[in-house]
Amino acid sequence: MELAKSAQRLFLPLFPIFCFISGEGGARQLVSATVQSNWRPTKLFVFGDSFAATGNNDNDFLNIPWNYPYGKTFPGKATGRYSDGRVLTDFIAKFIGVKSPISYKLKNKVAGDYLKYGMNFAYADTGVTSLSYFYPNLTTQIDYFQRIIEGASSVYNTTDLHSSVALVTVSGDDYESYIFSMEGQTPAHPLQSWKSFSTSIVNEVTTSLKRIHDLGVKKILVTALEPMGCRPTGTAVFSYKKCNETRNSLSRSHNLLLQEAVAKLNNQTKRSSFVILDLYTSFMSAFKNKGSIKFKDRLKPCCASVTPGYPYGCGTMSDIPGEDTYSICEREAAAFFWDYAHPTQQGWFSVYSNLKATLKKLYQNQ
Ligand SMILES: *[C@@H]1O[C@H](CO)[C@@H](O)[C@H](O)[C@H]1NC(C)=O
Ligand SMILES: *[C@@H]1O[C@H](CO)[C@@H](O)[C@H](O)[C@H]1NC(C)=O
Ligand SMILES: *[C@@H]1O[C@H](CO)[C@@H](O)[C@H](O)[C@H]1NC(C)=O
Ligand SMILES: *[C@@H]1O[C@H](CO)[C@@H](O)[C@H](O)[C@H]1NC(C)=O
Repeated sequence: MELAKSAQRLFLPLFPIFCFISGEGGARQLVSATVQSNWRPTKLFVFGDSFAATGNNDNDFLNIPWNYPYGKTFPGKATGRYSDGRVLTDFIAKFIGVKSPISYKLKNKVAGDYLKYGMNFAYADTGVTSLSYFYPNLTTQIDYFQRIIEGASSVYNTTDLHSSVALVTVSGDDYESYIFSMEGQTPAHPLQSWKSFSTSIVNEVTTSLKRIHDLGVKKILVTALEPMGCRPTGTAVFSYKKCNETRNSLSRSHNLLLQEAVAKLNNQTKRSSFVILDLYTSFMSAFKNKGSIKFKDRLKPCCASVTPGYPYGCGTMSDIPGEDTYSICEREAAAFFWDYAHPTQQGWFSVYSNLKATLKKLYQNQ
């Protein structure tokens, strides 16, 4: 007990969470909590889509996140992030105490020091499947990761992977293109096959999560789908005043399947290696203005085409020089959505604040 206490004192400044654990439990929990606190992630590996990407997509003018006004709040220029500033990856990196990891694309262009925080393999405009996507899907991103860690000149050894966290985002690009291709068909058809489509997506995600785990990464965060019907693409027809409930229910059914799959994985690995980041609830809380940040137009994009009701067009250049094709809201910090589907930096900050309690699970059940 005394030993545990002094060890705990040693770790407390770094691990404020463990005082809550020990405060609730008896001496035994205190000891185990102290032992658990030895694990500290030093690297972050990131996979997924535009909620996580920080620059892998080609830097050309057709790629809007490489154009102004993307990146206007942070770092002051476009970096390939789909936001006015930071995205989910940046906030997760901040939580575990590392720098936002370098984009895979830059791995050979930077000095070794830049690689020590992990690597970001995520590409915007991708999904789990290869549904008409130009960029590497989740499986291919993990192939890249595997090649790097198994390569002869790998900078990441087993010990490094053991002190790593992975973030996997699945924000619904697969579903968007599924809906897109299904729209116009008989209403019963898409709804009926939705379940099987959804099941195949979750199966793919599950396989990917297990692969990352088997490659040696200790803790793996995976996002649940955000309320897809609240994307400005879904709220535009309602003058940005309400969400499309049909689409939200589709998100919820994906999330139920994901929960079952992740519970199974955790049971198999016996260690709670997999943690779901519930973007559905955290987006909803932000819309309801729960927490310290109050958003003004919660379902309206800050940056969009000057054509009313058209949510796209942020960052696109005009064919006619000097003519504006899009407009930006007065205060991006008062908007939840930056463009047709992606949160502002402030939006992500609010979501992140709602996720903090879940993120603390990273340090439990070693
Ligand atoms: C992911 O991309 C690879 C390479 O293009 C492809 O072979 C594979 O079928 C894709 N996976 C899925 C689930 O679509
Ligand atoms: C693994 O690499 C780290 C540097 O990232 C180094 O400090 C450590 O000694 C290495 N461990 C082994 C077992 O090679
Ligand atoms: C809501 O979303 C569904 C599924 O994409 C779509 O079929 C429907 O038309 C949408 N409703 C409105 C009012 O836009
Ligand atoms: C966990 O796995 C064991 C077998 O290892 C099984 O008996 C049990 O039903 C599983 N529990 C859940 C919730 O899946």
